[in-house]
Amino acid sequence: MIHNSDYLAFIESTEKQTCDPWRTYAQVKNYPVIEESALNFLETWARLTRPTTILELGCGYGLMSARLLALLPEMKLTGIDYNSENYAVFKQLEKNETRCDRFTFKCGNVIDLLPKFEEKFDWVIVDVDKKFYPEVADVISEKVKTGGYLIADNVLWKGWVAVAGERKNPEPIRKWNELLFRNQNYETLLLQVGDGLSISRKL
Ligand SMILES: C[S@@+](CC[C@H](N)C(=O)[O-])C[C@H]1O[C@@H](n2cnc3c(N)ncnc32)[C@H](O)[C@@H]1O
Repeated sequence: MIHNSDYLAFIESTEKQTCDPWRTYAQVKNYPVIEESALNFLETWARLTRPTTILELGCGYGLMSARLLALLPEMKLTGIDYNSENYAVFKQLEKNETRCDRFTFKCGNVIDLLPKFEEKFDWVIVDVDKKFYPEVADVISEKVKTGGYLIADNVLWKGWVAVAGERKNPEPIRKWNELLFRNQNYETLLLQVGDGLSISRKL
């Protein structure tokens, strides 16, 4: 019997995706990026909620950033990543100057950089190394506008969050999920899409 996740992976492996240079780069370099189904969901969510400013923590070389920038022509996105080479890759893959102008790359550890941001954003997306999720949770709330969204990827982490794995430590993700569900300032949905997405609306 075929499982739902296998079927979804099959149906999503379209020609469009396999020809996408951003996805090809991830495959060739074995670079972790958001799964297509989760990104498709975020694109739909972006069409509905129309954010004008997004902060992406752990933007990598900008695959997700580029897709959201392409969708929302007025939106400005700030990405933070501690791998400085990623910005060069973004500029190499992103041939569209207008989109480059709306993308600001900050190089550094989010834990150090976040407290320095005075601006609040319509969306804040968390996609850093899982061990940082609880630390990010401590400082992130004040960076999200009231009525805005705090979004995190990998919150089900291949099933390791629900069932203790031998090789992986799911504790930081569990802590993130519990902190958000207990937080009275947010309405949180945990979606079984991609590697698990949490979507929290700030009240
Ligand atoms: C899953 S990849 C990001 C993929 C990207 N969000 C996308 O889907 O296109 C995670 C990224 O977070 C960065 N990262 C991990 N921990 C970080 C931290 N504490 N501060 C800054 N960047 C971090 C890594 O360098 C890596 O590029």
